[in-house]
Amino acid sequence: MFDLPSDILFILDELSETYGLDKNEARTYSKLSENYRNQNFRDLKFSQAVVYALGRMPATYGVIKYVLKRFESTGENFTNILDIGAGVGALKIALQDSEVNYEALEKSEAMRKIFRKLNGDDSKIYSEDFLKFCSKNKYQSVFASYFINEIKDKKSALKKIFDLSKKYVFILEPGTPNGFRNILEAKKVATELGWYPLLPCATRDCKLFEKDWCHFSIRLPRTRHHARLKNASLPYEDEKFCYVIFSKKETNFFENNTIVKRPIKRSGHTIFDVCTSDGIRRIVQTDKVGKKLQWGDQL
Ligand SMILES: C[S@@+](CC[C@H](N)C(=O)[O-])C[C@H]1O[C@@H](n2cnc3c(N)ncnc32)[C@H](O)[C@@H]1O
Repeated sequence: MFDLPSDILFILDELSETYGLDKNEARTYSKLSENYRNQNFRDLKFSQAVVYALGRMPATYGVIKYVLKRFESTGENFTNILDIGAGVGALKIALQDSEVNYEALEKSEAMRKIFRKLNGDDSKIYSEDFLKFCSKNKYQSVFASYFINEIKDKKSALKKIFDLSKKYVFILEPGTPNGFRNILEAKKVATELGWYPLLPCATRDCKLFEKDWCHFSIRLPRTRHHARLKNASLPYEDEKFCYVIFSKKETNFFENNTIVKRPIKRSGHTIFDVCTSDGIRRIVQTDKVGKKLQWGDQL
């Protein structure tokens, strides 16, 4: 369900072969990962951007699909969106079969070049630095996936994101304490500006802190490249992430009770760690109630 479409995988394969990256890609990927771990976000060279597309984009695409699916389940929708720090266009690919009017902003020339190879030349892509971006337009939705993490002045960037949006703001981040800290900062700025969290819960004043950060996980099939880049043998990978979707309108879909860890299955019952207004609570449910519930669902 969260796999990249086969035409995109085909183009990625071709890119790797055309640029003769196969021999060095594992080394380039390991250097890139090290830079990300050390929060060292230099402008990428073309070969690094190809390796990003092969090694990281399948996961960011999967996370984006998951978040869009959760959003759809609320019955809300959007018809236009600005994708900030769009990279090689994971959101654009995820919206491939929709009628949504999509615009992107991406400062890296290498990323934009691959974006065009994967998505064609039709999309409007602003090439400037977001922090200098001026727009007369407001968008119905603004999307920032794995972007805030790369920005030094997070508060200013977040304010600007909310200012550009009329209805919804999506923030996706790595499933790490740092990523969660960015989600908390986004909640703080949102509250100051009169926005409301819609998903994964409607709690403005989050009770979870760094030692127990709120994150989710999806299981992704490993592509041939993925396995080679990471020297990995398992046919799948678990991608951990944090996210929050804000709405301009107050909502009370999910006040709390979000399942925030992988449920522990026992014979005849399942144990859930659930986020409530008093913090994390452990709840046991019989199979009749709990069997189908998953990490990220509401109990
Ligand atoms: C980790 S990538 C995420 C790409 C994409 N959103 C995804 O989820 O796959 C972050 C992207 O943000 C871009 N970026 C970082 N700072 C930026 C800025 N100030 N203005 C515009 N783009 C920026 C980077 O060039 C990079 O392509």
